[in-house]
Formats: sequence, structure tokens, C-alpha cells
Amino acid sequence: MTTPIVIDCDPGHDDAIAILLALASPEVEPIGVTTVAGNQTLDKTTRNALVTLEVAGRGDIPVAAGAEAPLRRDLRTAAHVHGETGLDGPELPEPSERPVEAHAADFLAELIEPGVVLVPTGPLTNLALMLERHPDVPDRLERIVWMGGAIAEGNITPAAEFNAFVDPEAAATVFASGIPITMVGLDVTHKALFTRAHAERLRGAGRAGRFVAELSDFFQAFHERSYGFDGSPIHDAMAVAHVIDPTLMTTRGANVAIETRSDHCDGRTVVDLRGRTGRERNAEVGIDVDAERFLELLVTRIASLP
Ligand code: RIB
Ligand code: CA
Repeated sequence: MTTPIVIDCDPGHDDAIAILLALASPEVEPIGVTTVAGNQTLDKTTRNALVTLEVAGRGDIPVAAGAEAPLRRDLRTAAHVHGETGLDGPELPEPSERPVEAHAADFLAELIEPGVVLVPTGPLTNLALMLERHPDVPDRLERIVWMGGAIAEGNITPAAEFNAFVDPEAAATVFASGIPITMVGLDVTHKALFTRAHAERLRGAGRAGRFVAELSDFFQAFHERSYGFDGSPIHDAMAVAHVIDPTLMTTRGANVAIETRSDHCDGRTVVDLRGRTGRERNAEVGIDVDAERFLELLVTRIASLP
């Protein structure tokens, strides 16, 4: 059974690889891509989404641009991770396609119908705007699988993961919406490191494979400097992989609350795994992953692209 998905993203190296994994996997059908400011400014994340689709020969998939800034905060980008283009590393062709006219918040509402899974891999600003403008969407959106948050240590601050940190108010809105949501956080993504050996398996495997290998070269340098890792966590691809094969990741039901009023912990996803707060469970949270099977899926699927 093929699941239609919409990826709301801020490409970003791992967003781009997540899109390519989806395009290479018969279990999912990307029916649209929406973009948000996050890793880079909206103009760059939108261009990068168009470029990524065209690298795989899928310029037919519609792209809608969304929020240029968080709901109520100044935009914080991650040029230190993804570079000035947002996809530093490979040569980026000029995209031949343009985004559709519609704003991502409206385009998401247009695309969402029963059976569609929404896979946000950036700040949740577009989803919060969608819920505000189209309050009927929760009646027809069965599931969200979000790469974001962390049970333990953050990455942009000690307390917060980047996607949650950029727009905590938007994340709080989405987690309060009642829509079933799976949180794929740093606790699981950091368990599966894409290494130079994985990149070498892809470098000669077609245009998409070479593109991913070159993205990985740049991404790897950051993770070596920042964490001393010998590989990179391809965070966003794990959210897509969870839709492809839900047996890869182990989840546990929990209440997830988002800190929005703190001097040191804004954007923290407070994950109550043991029910200590008495708050209702509102999410499934990734607590473990079969890293080897995930990475093998990622490499073999990307290698199958032209
Ligand atoms: O913290 C990692 C997440 O933030 C990933 O989605 C990455 O692309 C950035 O958006
Ligand atoms: Ca992302």
C-alpha cells in the first residue's frame, strides 16, 4: 500500500536527502513539498527544494513556499551547519521550475485528505498557520511525523533542538492540536550516523547518489568539528523512513510540552515518558532505532535513483 505524503521542509542537507529517499521508495508517494524558513531563509530553502526534486527528475512535484519567519520571533538560521546556500557542497543547478502561487499553509490544507501523512522536517510555522487558517484540517489529517525535538540534549542550545527552537509557539500549537503526531528527535537520529563509507557507495551511483555524497561531504565536516562524529545524522530522512517502515524505530506514548517562556530553555520539548506531570499523552516519541537497517534502506534506495 502506497502512502501519500507531503514534506514540509527547510532544505538543508538532511531535508534534501529525506526528499530523495521518499522519491526512491514505493511505500510512499510525495504529492507535494512545502517550504519554510529555518536552516536558511525562505528563498533559499524553496530554491533548494526545487533543485532537489529536479536532481531526481521530479520537477513535476509541486512546491509551495510558506513562512519567511517564525510566528512571533526573529528567524534564526543554521548557516553554520548548512552553509550560505543551505545546501553547500554540490554544484547547485538553477531550478527550471517555480513554486506554485499558493502559500504553503493553504497548499497543505488543499492537499490534506484522509490517508495523507504530513512529514514536517523543519520549524512548524507552516503547520501552525495552516491550523489557524483552516481549522477543519485536524478532522482530515490522520498523522504527522515530525523530525524535531529531543528527550535529552538539544543541538542549537543545550536545552533545545533546532526545529523546535526556531518556532516554539508553532510547535506548541501543533502538539496541542490533537492530531496524532510522532516525534523523531535527536535521541534517535544521533544513533544512526551516515559515514564516508556510505557516501562512497553512492558517489558513483547516478546523479542523485553523487548529489547525496557531495552533500554528505559538507555535512560530515560540520559534525566532525562540532561533535567529533565520524558520520552525520541524516535527521530528516529518519522521519520519512518511519513512514516507509515503521518497524525501524521504537516509539513510546508521552506528553510533549514545548517551553516558550524561559531564559535558557525556550524550544525545549519536555517529554514526559513516565507520566510524572499527569498531562495527557499527545505524541508517540522515538526512543530507539535499528540504525543499521535504517542506513541500509537509505543507501540502497538513493542508489536506485537515476
Ligand atoms: O535539528 C535538526 C533539524 O533541524 C533538521 O531538520 C535540520 O534539517 C534542521 O532543520
Ligand atoms: Ca530540516
